[in-house]
Amino acid sequence: MPIVTLDDAAHAAPLAQALLAGGIDVMEITLRTPAALDCIRAIAAAAPAMLLGAGTIRTPDDIEAALSAGAQFLVTPGLTPKLTTALQASGAPAWPGVATLSEAMAAAEAGFTALKLFPAEAAGGVNTLKAFAGPVADLKFCPTGGVSLANMAEYLKLPNVACVGGSWLTPEKLVRARAWAEIEQIARQSVEAAKA
Ligand code: 3PG
Repeated sequence: MPIVTLDDAAHAAPLAQALLAGGIDVMEITLRTPAALDCIRAIAAAAPAMLLGAGTIRTPDDIEAALSAGAQFLVTPGLTPKLTTALQASGAPAWPGVATLSEAMAAAEAGFTALKLFPAEAAGGVNTLKAFAGPVADLKFCPTGGVSLANMAEYLKLPNVACVGGSWLTPEKLVRARAWAEIEQIARQSVEAAKA
């Protein structure tokens, strides 16, 4: 899953089209820039085939803004009691972020069974996920943070990994250069690597 931070909303729709052309039909726009909500609106309008998530959700207001703009799912970097309540109330599909077993257990208690592991590599990566598969075998993870074309297959082999995410799919330099054909190619390579 491409995790995308954009400064310019004009890049959003062509980027989504490039990813779709490369075989990727899910993406996350992070709420890390003033352009983020406009990017979500642009993709929702121009690329309805894209399953569109909003990431870096930290507050109840972020949830409201992202869903109003057209986000179909939510991703959070971590989880607080206030955010837990607001996510539950929204009813929207959500991948709350966790980095430890205690956080994963707290998220599971709140009803979340699909979790983002962030920052995956810094939190122990593949070895941490193998260890989690013992006590919390019922939980599925989307590792992000340090995942790349080089290591994604190792993660995807694990039974408790549902998907992987990261910024490697949409390098900032290529986005700024509007190098959509190159981004389509990276998407295609990543889809191939996921099958390996
Ligand atoms: C995230 O929110 O998961 C990260 O910003 C993505 O991390 P990466 O840039 O290391 O892929």
